[in-house]
This record gives sequence, C-alpha cells and structure tokens, in this order.
Amino acid sequence: MNLKDKYIEFFVSKGHKQIPSAPVVPENDPSVLFNTAGMQPLIPYLMGQTHPYGTRLVDYQKCVRTNDLDSVGDTTHHTFFEMLGNWSLGDYFKDESIEWSFEFLTKTLGIPVDRLAVTVYAGEGDIPFDEVSYNKWKSLGISEDRIAKTVEDNFWIAGESGPCGPDTEIFYFRSTDTVPEVFDPSDERWVEIWNNVFMEFMKDKDGNISLLPKQNVDTGMGVERTTAVLEGVLDNYKSSIWSDVIDLISNISGLPYEGNEKSMRIIADHLRTAVFISADPSGIKPSNTDQGYILRRLIRRAIRHAKSLGIDEFSDWEQQIARIIINKYKSYYKELEENESIVLDVLRDEKERFSKTLVKGLREFEKVVNNSKLIDGESAFHLYDTYGFPIELTIELASERGIRVDEEGFSKRFKEHQELSRTASAGKFKGGLAGDSEVEIKYHTATHLLNAALKIVVNKDVHQKGSNITSERMRFDFSCDHKLSDEEKMKTEELVNKWIKAGIDVTVEEMPKEEAIKSGAECMFIEKYPDIVTVYSIGDVSKELCGGPHVSNTSELGLFKITKEESSSTGVRRIKAVLIDE
Ligand code: SER
Repeated sequence: MNLKDKYIEFFVSKGHKQIPSAPVVPENDPSVLFNTAGMQPLIPYLMGQTHPYGTRLVDYQKCVRTNDLDSVGDTTHHTFFEMLGNWSLGDYFKDESIEWSFEFLTKTLGIPVDRLAVTVYAGEGDIPFDEVSYNKWKSLGISEDRIAKTVEDNFWIAGESGPCGPDTEIFYFRSTDTVPEVFDPSDERWVEIWNNVFMEFMKDKDGNISLLPKQNVDTGMGVERTTAVLEGVLDNYKSSIWSDVIDLISNISGLPYEGNEKSMRIIADHLRTAVFISADPSGIKPSNTDQGYILRRLIRRAIRHAKSLGIDEFSDWEQQIARIIINKYKSYYKELEENESIVLDVLRDEKERFSKTLVKGLREFEKVVNNSKLIDGESAFHLYDTYGFPIELTIELASERGIRVDEEGFSKRFKEHQELSRTASAGKFKGGLAGDSEVEIKYHTATHLLNAALKIVVNKDVHQKGSNITSERMRFDFSCDHKLSDEEKMKTEELVNKWIKAGIDVTVEEMPKEEAIKSGAECMFIEKYPDIVTVYSIGDVSKELCGGPHVSNTSELGLFKITKEESSSTGVRRIKAVLIDE
C-alpha cells in the first residue's frame, strides 16, 4: 500500500471521514489562481461553518504552487503536489493530533523513534509557549534534546491574514550518518515531513489576532517529499512516484537520466501539472491570462526542454507521457479519466501551435542576442507577440547565456498592447453584447435570491460553493448533504418567485469589511476581500458581499424556474435554473 492509502486508512480508523480533493482551481475565490495547501478549501469551515461531513476529516488534496516555478529542475521542487491532511473542526485538539501522528509514523510506517525530532511553538507576546505539545511529545518518548522551540517557524498562516495558530513540525533524519542526539532544525539532514497546526486564532488585515469560534487542527504532509524520504532517495524524481515517467522520457529521447536531469525533471513535472490543470472541472485552456497563462507556460517550457533533449516534436511524445501520468493517478482522481481526451487535445494543440513558431523564435532569439548583454523590452515583446515566447521563457534562455532581459521595458510594451485590446473589446461590447449582459445581470440577482431561499427552505447552513451564469441559464452550487426533495425544490421556487413578485429594491453600499460581516452579510472567503467592500441588499431578504452588478428591483426578473438539481461533488449540490419572461 502506498503512503496515500495508508494515511487515509489510518485516519478513517480514527473516526475521520474522507473528503474528496477540491478542484485545483478554487471556485469563487478570484484572489488565488490555484489551491496551494490542503487547508485552503476548508477555510470557511476552519472559521466556523458546519462541514457536511462532520468534525473529523481526512483527504489528499491536489495543490499547485507556481511561485518557484523557476526552481523546478532541481531535486525537490514541483509545481504540482499532493498534500495529505487530517482535520479536527472543533473536535479533538493537540493531544490526539500528536498521538495519532506519532502512531502513524512509528507503527503504520515503522519509522524508528530515534530518527524523529520535532519543533514546538516557543511563545511570543500574548500567545504562550505550547507546553501541551511539548509535554505530549515527551510523554511519547521524544527526548527533550529532540524538541526544539521556535517562534517564526512554529506559527502557521496561509498568507497575511486568515485562520492561523501555533504548529508543531515533525522531522525525519534523512542521512546514513549517525543520528545526532541533539536536534538542530537548521541541519539539513533533518527533513520536515509533517506539520500539525493548532488553528484557534484569526488574524485580520491589520494584524489583530482574535479567537476563532472553535479550536481546530489542520495537518499537512507532502506526498512527494515524504515518499522520497521514506524510500531513502535524495532526488525526489528517483522515488517510485516518478521513476516510470523518467524512464519513459529517457526512452523517448534515447538519453540517460544522468547528465540530463534538469530537462527531464522539468518535462516530467510540468506535464504532470498541465495534465491536472487541464483535467480540472474548471475547464482551463492555455491562454494569455491567469491560470491559462500558467498552463501555457508549463507546456511551452516542457516543449522547449523536450527539444533540447532532441525529442522529435512530430512524435506523440507528450501524449505518451500524459497517458502514463493519467493511468497512475486516475483511480484517485476520476476527472483524469473522464477528461482524458480533453487533456490529450490540450497538450497536442498547444504543442502544435508552439512548435510552429519555436524554431523560428529560437532563430530570432539568436539574432536578438547577437553578442549583446541585454535583450531590450521591444525585442522580448516581439518574441512574445510573434513567436509565442512567454517572457519567462525568454528570461530562462537569456540567463543560460548570462544575459539579462529588460523586464520593465517588456511590461511597458505589454501594457500598451493590453490597453489596445481592451479598447477594442469594449467597442465590441457596446456593439452587440449589451442585450446578453442585461440577462446575465438578472441571473446574478436571482442567484442571491436562490441563496437566501435555500437557507430558509433547506437549512440555514447552506452556503454558496460556486456559480456560473450564461445568457441562457444560471448554475448555483451549494453545500448540502442530500438530494433536494420535490417539495424542497418547489418551496424554493415559490419563495424566489414570491420575492420577485413583491418588487423589492436592490440597494448597494460600501462599508468596511468588518462592519459588513458584523451586520450579517453573506460572504465566501472573508479574508480574501479588500478592507472596504460593496454589499448588495435585497430588502431584508438577502445581504451579500458582492461586486455586482444587479438589477435595481426584483420585479425585473420574470418567472424563476429550477430546471435541474444534481450532485456537483461530495457534499455539494448543483441547481440549474432559468428566468422566463412573463
Ligand atoms: N496548513 C498547513 C500546511 O500547509 C498544514 O496543513 O503546512
């Protein structure tokens, strides 16, 4: 059994419910491009919302981190990784959490206690030394010499604000040297494998700390790193997670891994991430903005490295690699199988598009470089605009020659280009799309009414999980543990239509975020909003943090009709509805 299966089985045996991995692109959270940690989709629950699966949860979560994309190519960095996690939402706390981590590591995985060490929170300001964790580790047989106390490394928060708390980190001694008696966290032979965060605080944008409604536990263990550690390899790409992919790349290129590690790791890593992003339910396609741009960069960088290994671009090399990745993961992530043909098409299309210009672009690059020490902004933009070279690719190629790129000059040129396209599309909007957008505005307001109605008809703990509007219909995802009965659907429709008929005014005001929350306004990720927020109210019926736009009176909406109610993912239901002109 692999690490992932063992982990889930262990925590299920301790009363945890397994929850499915959330999509890699967060729904309804435009402030981040990807989920970067297992806890991210759980933020609302760590902040007090009731989770439909209960108070003990376990999962493996797909994560994408692109902040150090450029470091990929070394032995440890990955843009995609899986994070194992177990959570207590106001259920057990430090004692059980530590006890179970210890049991899993020493009994289930069979790690000798002598190879383990931990850090605990030393205490600072109003938050005291974490004596409970310290004593617990001691009682389990970790010697005092192996328990280090720190401040900075033992307080965990995702970003600047949000749920947070002291943590205790678990380290494994990865070396054939004799294990030192005294643990020194800065000694790199000790590798962190697990992080148990005791989330009982909330930090706001101004840095003020308050207590969360409940004491939670949030733990995280990276699958790639821990697997490599347990298998005793110093290069993650030599672990069982990667060996078949690397062997395949070596076969396709006819080159050994040794001596070609960097390009092979980049191809393996980037294609795996591209497979997961393009299989995601969010339907991301390569483009020049946001997640689509990351996807494009990953695929194009992999193509460039494949070319440098001499791989024939006209062969189906990328399809072979994608297939081996899909096969490896599909029993864990059903979307890989369901969307296999989409993934393969995305990769092939992007390869064909880029391969056409890559050779010419590389020739152009040589011309531009031509003995200079700097590539100016205009030339970098030309490589981007005409040959499809993401700026990061130009920078990477340049740095391999010890040359710099005028990034500022590029940005300036790029912005000018964006302004132009924006003006062009605004013109198009006025010309023909205005009608559509009015319909969409109506659907937007209907979404707020539906959200409010479900809270009354189904359960006050119903929360919005996603929404998607076209000129034809609205789609609304919400937390709910059961299929709606016909009666529930009927009552929901009736209530929405009652509010529409009542002709209620829709009003908007700006206020500080804290005030909006206090006044009971509905929102999905409080910490993701700016300090001053816009709040839309529909009489007494609904109040939500929202960017708008909305109709000014509900009477404009027409007749509301639910056309479909189905499962979206576990614990989340989906309603499709239409507005019919009366
Ligand atoms: N949130 C913590 C982390 O990402 C533990 O899950 O490390």
